[in-house]
Amino acid sequence: MEAMTFVLFGATGDLAKRKIYPALYNLYVDEKMPKAFSVIGLGRREVSDVDFQARVEESLHTFSRRSPEDAAKVRDFLGAFRYTSLNNKKVEDYKKLLEVVERREQELGIPQNRMFYLSVAPEFFEPIAENIKESGLGSGKGWKRLIIEKPFGHDLSSARRLNEKLSNTFAENEIYRIDHFLGKPMVQNMEVFSATNPVIQALWGNHYVSNIQITASETVGVEERAAYYDQSGAVRDMFQNHMLQLLMMVALHLPKKSSPEEIRFKKKSTAEALIPLLQEKLNENIVRAQYRAGELQGKPVVAYVDEPGVEATSQNDTYFAARVFLDDPFWNEVPFYIRTGKRLSEKSTRIVVEFKRPLNTGIPVDENLDANLLIIDIGPKEGIRIQLNAKSPMHHDTIEPMELSYSSSYDNVPEAYENLIFDALRGDATFFAHWDEVELSWKWVQHILDAFTANEVPLHYYEAGTEGPKAAEELLAQDGNEWH
Ligand code: BG6
Repeated sequence: MEAMTFVLFGATGDLAKRKIYPALYNLYVDEKMPKAFSVIGLGRREVSDVDFQARVEESLHTFSRRSPEDAAKVRDFLGAFRYTSLNNKKVEDYKKLLEVVERREQELGIPQNRMFYLSVAPEFFEPIAENIKESGLGSGKGWKRLIIEKPFGHDLSSARRLNEKLSNTFAENEIYRIDHFLGKPMVQNMEVFSATNPVIQALWGNHYVSNIQITASETVGVEERAAYYDQSGAVRDMFQNHMLQLLMMVALHLPKKSSPEEIRFKKKSTAEALIPLLQEKLNENIVRAQYRAGELQGKPVVAYVDEPGVEATSQNDTYFAARVFLDDPFWNEVPFYIRTGKRLSEKSTRIVVEFKRPLNTGIPVDENLDANLLIIDIGPKEGIRIQLNAKSPMHHDTIEPMELSYSSSYDNVPEAYENLIFDALRGDATFFAHWDEVELSWKWVQHILDAFTANEVPLHYYEAGTEGPKAAEELLAQDGNEWH
């Protein structure tokens, strides 16, 4: 891996503390960082290098999965960190930054490879990219890359505008758009799982699959993020990005383990194949809902509209479900049911593939039997389960479902951010969202958002601590299906 400088905007922020420093440290301990590297932290505040290093160290003690007990190792790691104060919008500050970066490059004798990580509010994305260009920071002799966090735009037109601005400084193959769901080990496993197991491969597709269900259910509410969340809601916060990315990953049907380009090409084809929901049929295919007061883990919780910072009249969606079809012969007529919501009964992200009964083989099967299921548990616990039918050892003539299950025996697996930063450092963009995917996803959700604004979609309610609104059950019941 080539030596480089990691330039971190938002170095005193929460994400840096919780995710980025621990990820860098874990990579360092696992010898997955370049032999020589420098990290330049940036923020508005004046902080000395020593104080900055102390903050980073504290974050390792609190959040790192690798124990920072080896004092010499921690000292070496922290030795790479410097801090510079910077006003994101002042080009002169970037010139100062360029001097710091160049000085460190010379001290370490490393090439001008620069990784810019934007861990800042989205309104700063454009000025930062512009100033990187203006100041000459982006015209070093080595490579330059940009890591950027969601939200990538607030809607289709703002996403396009943002992309245009970023493209003035960075080429598409230099932009690494983080969707942290793509960093989760089970999501990264999806392509390999279907491409390397002939049994799965043989069953993948509309001959044998009845429907696919993608769930991201959360117990947390809006937390301290009302200012952002009340303007975003579940569609923007989860569906446009994470949920549609999961759909693209599960719909992959590649004949063998494939190159990053092939995977991204295939994902783009899936995003292109998303069949737009007809305006007049919108309400048959989507469910928009908000939580009311309820009880979670034995404790009362307030309604969304009573959360601090939320408008009392807010119509924001804290839950969203949709039935989606792909215009792809491979998945023809297979509904993808997708749901995500806050303040639900459990924290669980999973994909359930329900197989047909009977299969298209002409062999008759009792339709009252439970369906065979393949369950991919993405988190919080990772695993894969297969549900089959078996004769009950206790009751004659009774057939009952049994489960074959694998759950990861590794208890200290790399975190999403670690996987993603590692990939970005070695220039592998497989698990980052390409602009085409982002744009197509926005396109698909845009008329839903427009219909929300025009009040054309009823807002359902669900009690906090339950599995969501009744309407979401009815969405599947129309097809004779139910959520798993
Ligand atoms: C974030 C959303 O992108 O993903 C949050 O902004 C959400 O609202 C989070 O809680 C869920 O991520 P995870 O990894 O906890 O499932």
